[in-house]
Amino acid sequence: MTVVDILIQTLQVLLPAYFANASPTFLIKLKKHPIDFGLMLGKNRLLGDGKTIEGLIIASIVGYVSGLLINYLVMLLPSSIVALNLPSIAYLFIGLGAMIGDSFGSFFKRRMGLPRGANVGLLDMEDFIVGSLVAARIFASFSWWTVIIALVATPFVHRTAGIIGYKIGLKKEPW
Ligand code: CTP
Ligand code: MG
Repeated sequence: MTVVDILIQTLQVLLPAYFANASPTFLIKLKKHPIDFGLMLGKNRLLGDGKTIEGLIIASIVGYVSGLLINYLVMLLPSSIVALNLPSIAYLFIGLGAMIGDSFGSFFKRRMGLPRGANVGLLDMEDFIVGSLVAARIFASFSWWTVIIALVATPFVHRTAGIIGYKIGLKKEPW
């Protein structure tokens, strides 16, 4: 595998994951239903109001649609490039995986007694991408370099997107 192959393969997982993960923040006006249905675990919510069913659905759809686009673009690449052979449905699971990973993050935040929106640095930034990587791995195997690049790049992308989201009023916090 060449460096270009690895970069293309990494983008095939990262781009749908990033789009999917960002998508729930656009559902501002919608009445949303928490995944945990308000359930408490001890003194705190299981997940909290920041994790909604609508968020889960929109992220899966956005993952799927961005996957259709990505697979189309991959087809246009020179045949010497080895891209991941991901069926369209895999991208839906990359989006869903992002939300499941993100929910695990919230689960641990609530267990630490932290309120919705609290900043816990790396846990907060990497949880979704781990979910997407696991989902992608069900459909295709890829190099450990993809995992390493994903874990290194994601905090920077997340932080930049967070600041932009905050400035344009989509997010309540810049993280
Ligand atoms: N969101 C959603 N459903 C999801 C994930 C996210 O509706 N499954 C929306 C929520 O409006 C959430 C926003 O996207 O507030 C930003 O997501 P995130 O930063 O992950 O949630 P937080 O509000 O920070 O909550 P938590 O502390 O639980 O991470
Ligand atoms: Mg947050």
